[in-house]
Amino acid sequence: MAESVVIRCRENGPLVVQGPFELIDHKGNKFTLPAGKPAVALCRCGQSKNKPFCDGSHKQCGFLAAEIAVKPPT
Ligand code: FES
Repeated sequence: MAESVVIRCRENGPLVVQGPFELIDHKGNKFTLPAGKPAVALCRCGQSKNKPFCDGSHKQCGFLAAEIAVKPPT
């Protein structure tokens, strides 16, 4: 079975993507992913100077995001 991709929402921070995946821009070109890292952090605050990757700017801009996954009713 293929390894699945896991995306974690970091509190007040990026989306961290782990697993085999490709990151494609709006023109269909592949981004080069950082070599040797088990996961990649993607900016969701809009302030990174290295989009789509997180560069830590969310810490200075006061970005707030703390979504909680809600269990569906059983
Ligand atoms: S989420 Fe980290 S720089 Fe935007």
